[in-house]
Amino acid sequence: MGTSFLWLAAALGLLDSGCHASTVLPRDAVPAGFVARPYYPAPHGGWTASWRESYAKAQALVEQMTLAEKTNITGGVGIYMGNTGSADRLGFPQLCLQDSALGVASTDNITAFPAGITTGATFDKDLIYARGVALGQEFRGKGANVYLGPAVGPMGRKPLGGRNWEGFGSDPVLQGISAALTIKGVQAQGVVATIKHLIGNEQEMFRMYNPFQPGYSANIDDRTLHELYLWPFADSVHAGVGSVMTAYNAVNGSASSQNSYLINGILKDELGFQGFVMSDWLSQISGVASALAGLDMAMPGDTMVPLFGFSYWKYDLSRSVLNGSVPLDRLNDMTTRIVAAWYQMGQDKNYPRPNFSSNTKNREDLLYPAAIASPRGQVNWFVNVQADHYKIARQVAQDAITLLKNDDNILPLSPSASFKVFGTDAAVNPDGPNACLNRACNKGTLGMGWGSGVADYPYFDDPISAIRKRAADVTYYQTDNFPSVPTPKDSDIALVFINSDAGENSFTVEGNNGDRNSAKLAAWHNGDELVKRAAAKYKNVIVVVHTVGPLLLEQWHDLPSVKAVLFAHLPGQEAGESLTNILFGETSPCGHLPYSITKKADDLPSSVADLKGFAFGQVQDTYSEGLYIDYRYLNKMGTKPRYAFGHGLSYTNFSFSEISISPVTRLTTSLPGPRAAKAPTPQFSTAIPPANEAKAPKGFNKIWRYLYSWLLDNEADEAYQIGTTGSKKYPYPEGYSNVQTAGPASGGDEGGNPALWETAFEVTLKVKNIGTRFSGKASVQGYVQYPESKYETPIVQLRDFVKTKELAPGEETTVRLGFKRRDLSVWDVEEQNWVAPGVKADGSMGRYTIWLGESSDRLRVACYTDTLECEGGLEPVV
Ligand code: BGC
Repeated sequence: MGTSFLWLAAALGLLDSGCHASTVLPRDAVPAGFVARPYYPAPHGGWTASWRESYAKAQALVEQMTLAEKTNITGGVGIYMGNTGSADRLGFPQLCLQDSALGVASTDNITAFPAGITTGATFDKDLIYARGVALGQEFRGKGANVYLGPAVGPMGRKPLGGRNWEGFGSDPVLQGISAALTIKGVQAQGVVATIKHLIGNEQEMFRMYNPFQPGYSANIDDRTLHELYLWPFADSVHAGVGSVMTAYNAVNGSASSQNSYLINGILKDELGFQGFVMSDWLSQISGVASALAGLDMAMPGDTMVPLFGFSYWKYDLSRSVLNGSVPLDRLNDMTTRIVAAWYQMGQDKNYPRPNFSSNTKNREDLLYPAAIASPRGQVNWFVNVQADHYKIARQVAQDAITLLKNDDNILPLSPSASFKVFGTDAAVNPDGPNACLNRACNKGTLGMGWGSGVADYPYFDDPISAIRKRAADVTYYQTDNFPSVPTPKDSDIALVFINSDAGENSFTVEGNNGDRNSAKLAAWHNGDELVKRAAAKYKNVIVVVHTVGPLLLEQWHDLPSVKAVLFAHLPGQEAGESLTNILFGETSPCGHLPYSITKKADDLPSSVADLKGFAFGQVQDTYSEGLYIDYRYLNKMGTKPRYAFGHGLSYTNFSFSEISISPVTRLTTSLPGPRAAKAPTPQFSTAIPPANEAKAPKGFNKIWRYLYSWLLDNEADEAYQIGTTGSKKYPYPEGYSNVQTAGPASGGDEGGNPALWETAFEVTLKVKNIGTRFSGKASVQGYVQYPESKYETPIVQLRDFVKTKELAPGEETTVRLGFKRRDLSVWDVEEQNWVAPGVKADGSMGRYTIWLGESSDRLRVACYTDTLECEGGLEPVV
């Protein structure tokens, strides 16, 4: 705890408030080999063609801004005060940044959509996009400028990780495609989407820097970073995402909110990100250092310990520019990035103002809640933004339902059967669906996890009500302890509902600190026992699981009466009818597992299976498993899971035929071609502005604890004096420079070198419903097996997926999967570039095997990139 005094001192303001490089505290050592090397300067935005016009408009606006206006829009006005600062004089508004990834948080008249993990389980691009459109419409309707989603960090590396359910599943391609489609859907409505959290937020406990301890360090090697954790961020930048949120934790020892390697180097230079980078809430820990490292917006604006009215930026950023410690050039870029994102989404034209408060449900209330003594006024207008989005929500919930097992084809059910329903998870929380703040309790049907990633349910369609609508003979035992029941009939159907919850570290639920540190991979409330007891009594047991992630099913899975198991994930408000449509055979299930379900927790390596516990100093979370998480690890070890990633049954069967592969853009070099040079970016005067640009207007009545960007007159004068005379020398970070660079070879546009995004091969096939009774949608998943080379790669890796439309018995459709240069490449740490190891020295194409199937362990069809042949009936490679 050598640094704890310093943390405490910083928090109490004994040290300067952070706007001097000299207050940057020493980092804790991380294991050898994990490097967050310095990367300076922060690359200017505005060099890609797709953002050129918005940057031109932004430049014209920023040129007119005073220093205080610029520093006002680069930070929040304080926790519970809402929003960022504005440049009102010029028509640039306060921006409303709002959670969550599954719906507009803390307000009414919205749709509580299924969570990310549920959305990923659909493996359906059209639905994922449609959900994004609906989310975007609701955020816009409420006047929120920025949607704080989607979440792809965590990736789901640790099955016990608390926030995995906010993302789409434990695979970079499932995450990346889902995030990109969500972003496109949201941003097509004019709302800025935020991809979060960059990066390595794979567990909740010990994530945050606090006065006593730094947040944990996610120690990730360069190749693993690129091929797994950064991958979905690259998709998001390629999709044109407007903002990125950094993570709470450190990466390779350097706090994510001021990690110059990550923000300046990887995100802004290599991935060519053109929008703005915001801190996660209260994760900013310095002033100058975070500015130089590329942070553009401090949220919610307070220092690490909030509510004292202190900020590392705002007034102190004004001071830092005046005294010369932060170059004006950096502030201009920060400001321009924010204004450009606003123009890029068209928010300058008729964008609604926020019409709700996330602090209160009252029509009138405090305008500045953190100030306590605050003027009052109207804060809620109760605008209904739901439209008919329940339909999309229900479709996603339904198409995510993953049928793991269906012995004797017990499903679908006949409504005339006699049903005995067990488990409190079958009915809505008796106290009301929103009874617990931030859903930080597990009571009733689990529709979402807990924390900031939730929204309020407008209503809750629970499974028991939906079952009662379909069937007449239903007895519900609303308990998790197996009750005494009348002697069962052989034909009775027992439906047992169990669940597993997780969430954000800000709340502890039943001993779980966000992560499932207490419950582990067992069902909550003794759910496994409930299944066993039901299975001992009834001949036909169907288990429905609402869960944030994998569970261990071994205690009861093979009991003879456990006939069917369904994972309904986290369905949001539409938990009932979505389920009964499947149970009663309205349609076939078509969800697929967005993670593997192992037989034992330690079938995965301990770096992944275990959570990091307390340590003195910084907790070190080292990614020693490298590329090998989830199915990548299980396949490498030859360990059969209970259910593999991508698994999901239907009531019908599908065949694949007429499979063909064709090259699209031929790869003749293993490296992508040279990148184009950056186009010129906006140029501004770099002279230190006059001190009065940072002085408050005379007689201005400040609100207590509201964060302003003005200095006292004498402070501004003093800072200006220092800055213009150069009387003070600042200790800049190692490697610091303020000269813009050309950028790395792996960059070149949004998402990196454009060649990486070119489709190299396309595979087409016909998919036919060969069943006779049920219609259904088929999932086609494409996994790539790399040729032998000096790069060890996982045996197979998902690279694309398609869901068919609903196919009637006998109906057939053609589907297409694409494989890009990036999908056939590895990140070479020496080259610092993507290398396609299958391209031979003479420019000819070697053999990648593209495996197709309905799950990662049922791959019987393969196409070859060298012979351009495809064949079926093969033994799966894993
Ligand atoms: C979470 C973010 C969230 C933010 C704002 C943080 O605690 O990590 O995901 O967007 O709060 O509520």
